[in-house]
Amino acid sequence: LTPFFIIKLYRKTIMSYKENYENWKKNPTAFWKKKADNIYWNKKPKIILDNSNPPFWSWFPEGELNTCYNCLDIHIANGKGDVNALIYDSPVTNTKITYTYKELLNKTEKIAGALRDYGVVKGDRVLIYMPMIPEAVASMLACARLGAIHVVVFGGFAPNELATRIDDSKPKIIIAGSCGIEPGRIVEYKPMLDKAIELAKYKVKTCFIFQRDICEAQLIKGRDFNLQLLIDNSNRAKPVSVKSSDPLYILYTSGTTGDPKGMVRENGGHAVALKNSMNMVYGLKPGEVFWAASDIGWVVGHSYIVYAPLLNGCTSILYEGKPTGTPDSGAFWRVISEHNVSAMFTAPTALRAIKRDDPNGKEIKKYDLKNFRMQFLAGERADPTTIRWAEKHLNVPIIDHWWQTETGWAIAGNFAGLGLFDIKPGSTGKASPGFNVQCLDENGKIKPVGEIGALAIKLPLPPSCSSTLWQDKERYKKAYLEDFDGWYSSADAGYIDKEGYIWVMSRTDDIINCAGHRLSTGAMEEVLSKHKDIAECAVVGILDELKGQIPMGFIVINSGTAKPNKTIIQETINMIRNEIGPVASFRKVIIVNRLPKTRSGKILRSTISSIVDKKPYKIPATIDDEAILDEIKDAIQ
Ligand code: COA
Ligand code: AMP
Repeated sequence: LTPFFIIKLYRKTIMSYKENYENWKKNPTAFWKKKADNIYWNKKPKIILDNSNPPFWSWFPEGELNTCYNCLDIHIANGKGDVNALIYDSPVTNTKITYTYKELLNKTEKIAGALRDYGVVKGDRVLIYMPMIPEAVASMLACARLGAIHVVVFGGFAPNELATRIDDSKPKIIIAGSCGIEPGRIVEYKPMLDKAIELAKYKVKTCFIFQRDICEAQLIKGRDFNLQLLIDNSNRAKPVSVKSSDPLYILYTSGTTGDPKGMVRENGGHAVALKNSMNMVYGLKPGEVFWAASDIGWVVGHSYIVYAPLLNGCTSILYEGKPTGTPDSGAFWRVISEHNVSAMFTAPTALRAIKRDDPNGKEIKKYDLKNFRMQFLAGERADPTTIRWAEKHLNVPIIDHWWQTETGWAIAGNFAGLGLFDIKPGSTGKASPGFNVQCLDENGKIKPVGEIGALAIKLPLPPSCSSTLWQDKERYKKAYLEDFDGWYSSADAGYIDKEGYIWVMSRTDDIINCAGHRLSTGAMEEVLSKHKDIAECAVVGILDELKGQIPMGFIVINSGTAKPNKTIIQETINMIRNEIGPVASFRKVIIVNRLPKTRSGKILRSTISSIVDKKPYKIPATIDDEAILDEIKDAIQ
């Protein structure tokens, strides 16, 4: 029985995608009410959707619940306490630890107890700056237990980015690890944390530090406390009931400027949508093993390493390693085989990295993958070549699906729980029940089938989608709701074909997807423009075989600058690494005499990236001086 055959049999027995989507469309509140019944509420919501204040909306407004209770305690209450909740697999430290639901609750209750002892109450923010270790997951759940709002910051960001997030979220406590481990180097988090606290205007008074054996951090007396000692000595904390609309977390994501957007996720809608997605999108039953090979610093990590698998009573894998090099390109297949993973989720870039090292799939053949049913991809456009390579060697459906930090779960996909498995490589599948996705022209009119336009979602967005930025509803409205009246603008461009498949092709703003990481080229330009010798600059995304896209800087140097070009280039690379972080992957810089602009002075960034990528482009009618395009061509030779 091949996985494809099992899926065909399965499709015949379940409610189809079409029925489900129609059910939702006919009566969205009845659809979501039914899903909400699968969550344990301390106070059941009577109202399902409050749509009385357009363009905003609120799901399950009077409901009360605790997300941590729904992730952990409830399974123990249902006699599943000895089921595995989390498997920590860390090739970089040679460690494997399995936590049952009871054991994960134990760690979580103790961290929650420590936070409570240091004054954290419902609504307080707690910033988490940790590598992929179990204490990071337990810290997130501990915040949820107290009704505190966690703010997880990815380890690949520089102190400056951390400081921006501290100033915006004003955390009462920061929980950090002493270090992260990247292939070939230890990334000391503590000095970066100290620097960020020094840079931030808002002064954090308390930090909990998890000391890793590989690198012990120096603690500052009176401010820093050893997290393990706190866990050992604290009393357990009980779950605190919160309103459905109370924030569970803030997750910062790249915007068009240097100020990241603090996406707010509410407790109620998040729990309902994520629990539903585990079966509907991924086809996973309680007790099965799910692996999202991402990082807890990204939305994929929040939703599918931590919350959704636990809400659904599954076992989640926490993997501290890379697709290749830890130790080889068979790492993913080892984990799948060893821990009986049923479905995995990663970014296409990870498969490209494996394919580069193991083009004939030799490593795949070394492992028994009999339990492995589906490979999910998201985070960037999945190129058909990589999809076909994976399909050939893994012999399971390779399922692309489209989503954003803003939504927290898939806007479109190929629904393992609904039997839709007609995959079109290159497309992200059909709209998820809950999302009315259309392709609009610049006036907000629906475009003819197959024509490229702006992908937009009809309001209200379904449960789990953010409806505000942290303490800035106006910025949310401006960023997402003002382009098209009554629609959420995704900032992705693409088209919808006649069978309803959505093809996400590119961003309409200056965000790039680099190795599955969302980065703002605008933020990079802000950093570069601080360089004393740079008159002006543009950063554009260019194609990269491995990472999908990487940033490339074009700089114009002040006349009369004595410094050698080589020095200036290296300084710009260092500036981005130090101010944004290594994750920006900023290594390519070109010096030009002028930048191409429109007559009103707007830099023609997309024309520049088309030139670099050797893609056809139209010379804009408003261009100021066409000759500059030839100068750019010469400069990149
Ligand atoms: N802490 C500190 N530094 C980090 C980091 C972290 N958590 N994650 C990445 N970095 C650093 C890397 O060490 C690298 O530093 P370097 O410039 O000194 O080499 C830099 O940031 C760039 O990292 P990355 O873009 O990840 O490139 P890479 O060459 O190290 O790895 C891949 C390439 C494809 C293997 C890797 O990006 C990958 O596994 N991607 C999966 C994507 C993913 O999980 N996306 C989440 C959404 S699904
Ligand atoms: P993030 O918020 O980091 O998840 O990034 C969201 C962005 O990643 C989207 O707006 C898209 O540009 C891109 N993206 C996510 N999933 C896909 C996909 N399956 N295909 C194409 N682009 C995607």
